[in-house]
Amino acid sequence: MERNRHAESRWPGLQAVSHHPACGRCAVVKPSANAEKTDEEEKEDRAAQSLLNKLIRSNLVDNTNQVEVLQRDPNSPLYSVKSFEELRLKPQLLQGVYAMGFNRPSKIQENALPMMLAEPPQNLIAQSQSGTGKTAAFVLAMLSRVEPADRYPQCLCLSPTYELALQTGNVIEQMGKFYPELKLAYAVRGNKLERGQKISEQIVIGTPGTVLDWCSKLKFIDPKKIKVFVLDEADVMIATQGHQDQSIRIQRMLPRNCQMLLFSATFEDSVWKFAQKVVPDPNVIKLKREEETLDTIKQYYVLCSSRDEKFQALCNLYGAITIAQAMIFCHTRKTASWLAAELSKEGHQVALLSGEMMVEQRAAVIERFREGKEKVLVTTNVCARGIDVEQVSVVINFDLPVDKDGNPDNETYLHRIGRTGRFGKRGLAVNMVDSKHSMNILNRIQEHFSESRGGSCAWHPFLRGAGWGKG
Ligand SMILES: Nc1ncnc2c1ncn2[C@@H]1O[C@H](COP(=O)(O)OP(=O)(O)OP(=O)(O)O)[C@@H](O)[C@H]1O
Ligand SMILES: [Mg+2]
Repeated sequence: MERNRHAESRWPGLQAVSHHPACGRCAVVKPSANAEKTDEEEKEDRAAQSLLNKLIRSNLVDNTNQVEVLQRDPNSPLYSVKSFEELRLKPQLLQGVYAMGFNRPSKIQENALPMMLAEPPQNLIAQSQSGTGKTAAFVLAMLSRVEPADRYPQCLCLSPTYELALQTGNVIEQMGKFYPELKLAYAVRGNKLERGQKISEQIVIGTPGTVLDWCSKLKFIDPKKIKVFVLDEADVMIATQGHQDQSIRIQRMLPRNCQMLLFSATFEDSVWKFAQKVVPDPNVIKLKREEETLDTIKQYYVLCSSRDEKFQALCNLYGAITIAQAMIFCHTRKTASWLAAELSKEGHQVALLSGEMMVEQRAAVIERFREGKEKVLVTTNVCARGIDVEQVSVVINFDLPVDKDGNPDNETYLHRIGRTGRFGKRGLAVNMVDSKHSMNILNRIQEHFSESRGGSCAWHPFLRGAGWGKG
């Protein structure tokens, strides 16, 4: 399904109320907060990453992987559905689902929806990778439980940032567009209401700080009347200072029988601990990510003695790598900008993706690359982490991946390289080595993967020195 975020006219049904802060279709994007920081300080900005993935995603990430279901009551039968009809949704809602172009439930939806819609309501913690249909799943659950005739908030959804709240709000609006009486309020900063007012919108989406204010200090929302509480993007949420505590404080104000639903793209320990704190007696659904492997990827290294020699080697390789599409990773923004500029001077057409660009600019760069308008994308690891560009078949580590202490970053290596060998396609990885130290790092990476993958990670020395082709 391809959706044009900007071309839609306002839907007639579910109305965003007058205090809707901005057009939810046009992502509001600001320079990332760490724009002034030096490259070394560049941090992974998970909220920006998540938003970026949504902006560039054109459709559902289909996943054939295993679903793990842990039921609170192991004796109750386990349902999954293969069609939306089986869920017996209200007709307006089914209409909304089809209007969005969904024909059948995604893998996570197959399992999560029957669980979320069951009576009596059950709590759920669900994890599956980005783009697999989590948002659509809980939006359907909220819209199924809401009573449009009651003019007060009944469903509350927390999102990590303003921009992500608007994105999710947009999904709620689209899916609920055949409910004329249903309204949605955005509890986000800058959305000022008069004191003493009570809001009548049945669904509230917002960020933890503002929602907390609306529930406690300002009393715009009566938390005791909330039937469904959703915590979306829990992994992004807890990466932000203060959000975890605010979410817990909100959760404590809700009635005991309120249905609690938590979603996350990943499940590190920290997410899991948080999830267990805010979701009592949960069912748990996990969708395994396709395992990344190095088996189908040929890995080479190039021995050089300086950065300039690495550049020269890269130029020598250039004709070979641009047969397909390539991503070149640098350690810092500075190196990435330098390299992109130097390659341009040589007459090569390259794209640069860098952390100081605004999210929307970054999305545009990736989209052009995906469309093949540029064959080579120069970027930093931090910036490109989590971004999936399927057609990349050559990865060049202009700098080897190291963590902040200078140790080999195996996970990042796998993540960068793993992307090239998807679906059995053969990929190529070239590592630029410019010192004894970096050769040592590469050897340690090789050792790591030889141990963990039964010896399947072997380097082929591609060439020695910068003289590619000279023998
Ligand atoms: N059943 C479906 N059929 C077709 N497309 C779907 C279906 N469910 C969701 N989608 C589409 O797939 C894309 C990803 O869905 P969604 O945003 O719900 O994923 P997500 O798991 O919440 O991802 P993230 O972790 O990034 O928030 C969206 O464009 C959405 O419209
Ligand atoms: Mg989502």
